Amino acid sequence: MKVLLVGGGGREHALAWKLAQSPRLTRLYAAPGNPGIAAHADCVPVRDTDLDELVALARRERVELAVIGPEVPLSLGLRDRLSDAGVPVFGPSQSAARLESSKAFAKDLMALYGIPTARFRVFQDADAAKRFCRELGAPLVIKADGLAAGKGAMVCATLPEADAAIRLCLDEDAFGAAGRTVVVEEFMTGEEASFFVITDGASALPLPAAQDHKAIFDDDRGPNTGGMGAYTPAPVMDEAMTGRVMEEIVTPTLAAMAKEGAPYAGVLFVGLMIGPDGPRVVEFNCRFGDPECQAILPRLDEDILPVFEAVASGRGLPASLRWRREASVCVVLASPGYPGTPRAGLPIEGVEAAAALPGVNVFHAGTALRDGALLTAGGRVLGVQTLGGDIRAAIERAYDAVGRIRFEGMQFRHDIGRRALARS
Ligand code: AMP
Ligand code: GLY
Repeated sequence: MKVLLVGGGGREHALAWKLAQSPRLTRLYAAPGNPGIAAHADCVPVRDTDLDELVALARRERVELAVIGPEVPLSLGLRDRLSDAGVPVFGPSQSAARLESSKAFAKDLMALYGIPTARFRVFQDADAAKRFCRELGAPLVIKADGLAAGKGAMVCATLPEADAAIRLCLDEDAFGAAGRTVVVEEFMTGEEASFFVITDGASALPLPAAQDHKAIFDDDRGPNTGGMGAYTPAPVMDEAMTGRVMEEIVTPTLAAMAKEGAPYAGVLFVGLMIGPDGPRVVEFNCRFGDPECQAILPRLDEDILPVFEAVASGRGLPASLRWRREASVCVVLASPGYPGTPRAGLPIEGVEAAAALPGVNVFHAGTALRDGALLTAGGRVLGVQTLGGDIRAAIERAYDAVGRIRFEGMQFRHDIGRRALARS
């Protein structure tokens, strides 16, 4: 089977690595891919937002399945365009991707169908938004409605901070069109988890839950990033909690989307807050998490291609998936300057030595090859992943591999997985 993978980050490298192991794969194309993905796929220099070129590529190469990694092409309607061209796709329609591309849509849906989430209201008027902040009281959270590359959610400890966040969105246009509508919501306490299901719209297969580390510095200090590391399993998501999340959140959300005429097929990422009253939704995303995907996929003990194919073709999902019992850890190595403006073009050393360690994967995120030299080319540069008999072993092996890699100003967190360690 000929497969086209859309995207070129760490998540897509993990997807390419997993797809490449399928005996059913005959050829893998990646658009645009990256130097790591190039070990498994033919990388084609087409941007993941160039819908016309992506459709042309799929047609020209007679692609039999397209797998769309990032949210932006999904929110632009790439799934719909490829489907119209007769290409089966793993990934939701533009209309279903609104679960991520419009926080107001997602929150209104949850309110309408009784799906547990933080108390909220949606505003376009700054004065009305500020009045609601006084009603809720601080701390609270202000969110730009649209896609903002992970920067659109502002946790505000005080009312003046909330006012400033509202001004940023509605008066100063800091997020452009994405921030002209804001969601003002209650601050939830508890433990966060990243939970994923693969769904054809009717049934849903849960994946082992993960936990992400969003802040740039150890002990969750500093500004938020796209994610500095992940581990799985997440101890907070035991079997009972997983059952509750499926029953109270996933099943009603899929039913609601079908009822609204936007059936959801693909992977659904449920960002959860597990609090004293049980699980509540922080946000939905219409894709795999990055770096959660890099931690989770190496635990999948079977071929992923037939699963994607079953969703894309509308044939029923298997009853369950087989997972390795080991724990998995992924540590992200980031450029100096990240999450602000990262420095590009810095030579990277030691990737081969790290990847040669048994059981270690080095997934490329923001790298480039120039005259045979590997250079930094983005905020998050690499993801170093390993399995271990338990979380402690996985952490040790991951940091042993991290220690082999060097580039100027390399940033990484030293405490990935420590929260799980504290619990075990
Ligand atoms: P989001 O972009 O919606 O995932 O938000 C980014 C991060 O902000 C989340 O991972 C949480 O840590 C935090 N956050 C968002 N909404 C809330 C909320 N209502 N209560 C507490 N923390 C939140
Ligand atoms: N790591 C969080 C995300 O992918 O949104």
